[in-house]
Amino acid sequence: MTRQRLVAGNWKMNPTSEEAAVELARAVVACAADYGGRVQVAVFPPTVWLQAVADELKGGQVEVGAQDCYWEPSGAFTGATSAAMVAGWCQWTLVGHSERRTHFGMTDDDVARSTAAAVETGVRALVCVGEHKDDYLAGKTNQVVGGQVRAALSRLGARSAEIAFAYEPVWAIGTGRTPVPEEVEDELALIREEAGRILGGDSTSSLRVLYGGSVTPDNIASFTTLPTCDGALVGSASLSAQKFAAMVEILAEEVAK
Ligand code: PGA
Repeated sequence: MTRQRLVAGNWKMNPTSEEAAVELARAVVACAADYGGRVQVAVFPPTVWLQAVADELKGGQVEVGAQDCYWEPSGAFTGATSAAMVAGWCQWTLVGHSERRTHFGMTDDDVARSTAAAVETGVRALVCVGEHKDDYLAGKTNQVVGGQVRAALSRLGARSAEIAFAYEPVWAIGTGRTPVPEEVEDELALIREEAGRILGGDSTSSLRVLYGGSVTPDNIASFTTLPTCDGALVGSASLSAQKFAAMVEILAEEVAK
């Protein structure tokens, strides 16, 4: 089964003005236009700039996502933004990014609730999983990642929805360090297998699984050419339109081969 490749840019808490966010979105549109839809491209701006970025991207090829969503549709949840609220603008939402888990106390069950809420409101969930350095060194990567995948899907019932996963070892995020490609290849296969078992149908072959963690134009191909890898979730390098464009181009060339 051919799965469409995806390059996703997680802007995190950047840029700091609406103007700069719209400008970055415009630059991403320009680079995506050159690749004729061969690669799916999505950007994940901060919530406060979502509407402006979504307006800029409207009707085009570049999709937009939220960086998180809360599972309750509305109510007394100060500071939260519901899946139902972002659904008006977004095709995607990240769920369970390690920074949400680490800095904001998001649990595996919270990830399951947000994943289910996103899917119910028609927003595709890009669920992030990955082990901490200690678990990696202790050889517990499969155990940790497998557990996170099973937990994330535990509230979906029988529905197999538009879900994708990003494998992001916590120790590789923002550090310039990455696992060797063979390790990534195995982990992506494990994610596909675990998720496929739960989601059923043909999802073992149709599910998209990305790699994330210190991805740059220099190393992206070492991951995206792996048979188990469907693209990349890019953090800091996605803030440079030039670097992001270079990565989209590298994937588009791979697809054209
Ligand atoms: P990074 O971040 O590319 O800056 O390592 C990746 C991510 O957190 O999604």
